[in-house]
Amino acid sequence: MVKLLFVCLGNICRSPAAENIMRLLVDRAGLSDQIICDSAGTSNYHVGSPPDERMVEAAKQRGMEFVGTARQIELKDLQEFDLIVAMDRQNYRRILQLDPYAEYHHKVRMMCDFCQTHLDTEVPDPYYNGEEGFYYVLDLLSDACEGLLQFVQKAYLQKHS
Ligand code: 4NP
Repeated sequence: MVKLLFVCLGNICRSPAAENIMRLLVDRAGLSDQIICDSAGTSNYHVGSPPDERMVEAAKQRGMEFVGTARQIELKDLQEFDLIVAMDRQNYRRILQLDPYAEYHHKVRMMCDFCQTHLDTEVPDPYYNGEEGFYYVLDLLSDACEGLLQFVQKAYLQKHS
């Protein structure tokens, strides 16, 4: 079993989108019994909230239904998950700060490292901008999730099965 945790600031826009898109790709690949997807925020701003309605609407336009309840990342997530995938550098740093002894830093990666066609190095925060930003995030995350699925299959599933 490989456990993936996607992390942004609020856990209502980017990381729940990444979690839901990744779960769709995992289901489609027939790997839902081998790869678990979850998400969390580095802040507590929106704990308990569902994904942002603008993100839910953009996903709906693309034929996807997003579900989730925001929660804040804790040190124990770094112990439990195999890969912790940060949406941007600010959140990458905040994740590392949870682990001052650097026991789990090797598990933390940047989402855009897995992009195959986009050149972005961070997933832009769509929260304060217009709706087109949400569609852009969906496209960027779809690209990164496809790359991430290939990485997980190579790095974990082929070796360990
Ligand atoms: P997210 O977007 O980190 O992609 O969930 C944001 C959500 C809320 C806030 C900022 C970013 N906020 O400042 O409340």
